[in-house]
Parts: sequence; C-alpha cells; structure tokens
Amino acid sequence: MRAASSTMSACHKRNESTMNAAMTQDELKKSVANAALAYVPEGQVIGVGTGSTANFFIDGLAQMRDRIRGAVASSEASAARLRTHGIPLFDLNELTELSVYVDGADEIDRRLCMIKGGGAALTREKIVAAVAQRFVCICDQSKLVETLGRFPLPVEVIPMASAQVMRALSALGGIPKLREGVVTDNGNCIIDVSGLQISRPEEFEAQLNAIVGVVTNGIFAQRPADVLLLATPQGVQTLSRD
Ligand code: 5RP
Repeated sequence: MRAASSTMSACHKRNESTMNAAMTQDELKKSVANAALAYVPEGQVIGVGTGSTANFFIDGLAQMRDRIRGAVASSEASAARLRTHGIPLFDLNELTELSVYVDGADEIDRRLCMIKGGGAALTREKIVAAVAQRFVCICDQSKLVETLGRFPLPVEVIPMASAQVMRALSALGGIPKLREGVVTDNGNCIIDVSGLQISRPEEFEAQLNAIVGVVTNGIFAQRPADVLLLATPQGVQTLSRD
C-alpha cells in the first residue's frame, strides 16, 4: 500500500472538454464516469467502486467489456450490476495486483484525501483501493472541499461494539448516529459521525481505526486517490498526485 505524503499537493489541472452550464448532477456524474474509461488498461482486471457515479462507470465499462479481462467489485451491489452487463467477476484473492481502481467519493480535498462510505461499502472499497496501483476518483464538483468533515463520516462497526464505539466517537468531539436499518456486506453496522473538521486526515484515520470494534472508517487519507476527475459545467478537470 502506498502511504500519502502529508506535504504532497495535487497538481496538473486542465479542462478536457466543454460542457453545458445547465447540466444536471447526474449528467455531470455520467460525464466524469465516461472520462474515467480512458484510464482502463486493456486486457486487465479493473477494480470497480460503489455508488451512483460508479454505476455510470460500470455502464460505460460494459461498452468495452471485450477489451478487459474482468472486474473486482467493492460491493455486492456493484458485483450484481457488473454481472448484469456480462463482465466477468474476480475475487481479489485470485489476483496479485490490480492496475487501477475507479470509484466515487462523498468528499475529496485538494490533496485527494477523501471521505467515503455513503453507500456503506467503505471497508471493501478500502481493501480494493489498497491493492490497486492507481486510484482514479470520479466526482462531480459538489464533492470538492477545503477541509474534510462536512459530510458525516461513516464508520463500519462490529454490531456488539456499537454503543461503546459511539461513546468513544463522542469523546473525540463527534456527533455519532447509527444508520438505521443498514447492514453492510460484511454483516456490520454503520455509524455516521457529524460535527467533525478533519484537518489532519491521516492521523485521524489511524486514531479511529484504533478504537476497539471499529472495522474501518471512511477517511481515505493513508491511501488517497492518485487522480481526481472532477466534473464541472465547464468540463472535466484532472487533478493528479502522479
Ligand atoms: C460508497 C461510496 C461512494 O463512492 C460515495 O458514497 C459516493 O457515491 P455517489 O457516487 O453516489 O455520490 O463511498 O460507499
């Protein structure tokens, strides 16, 4: 896994196409998902994320399914969508490497650290991202923030530990709330934590992971994205750590 340098900042910013200022959020998501197809290497297995933006990517990937070997999915929902398109699915344990992982985010900052897990798939997303050589994040412009924390931070927790984890999260200054009726693909629950201003995401990610009962938290800072494709009405912008 590659560790983030705390001083590295995103570079290379360019417009790739001109878009209509009246585009809807779904149109923005679709445009950035299609732009990510250029990052898919032929003949390989691709890591595929979860969520509405990732769904547009999966639909685009279907158009080039004969040119890839298959995909590793970060959730049962994405696996089902890939299956529907006839894209072969691989177990991550069958592979020794994964060239690229494409996924959305709930928030992303200019160093390409993210909050993820709005779709409750954060643990598998973090696992697939950890194996991938390159993480391409696909977002519409509403997801870009100066400081992470506006979006309630999802934390996946072993069910019997939920009350004690919520107490620990409160002690760290957050306002934890159990996501009612949600069971993750791993059989766990999700606690969403609001009221946070995450100025040191690498440290806070490690601190939360040290709470007994926490499976994963939704900060992706120790393994941030390598490339951000950001949909704006003026075009898809590219920010890169590469
Ligand atoms: C799922 C995620 C998603 O990437 C995140 O919630 C963004 O979703 P969307 O593309 O629907 O806005 O982390 O667990």
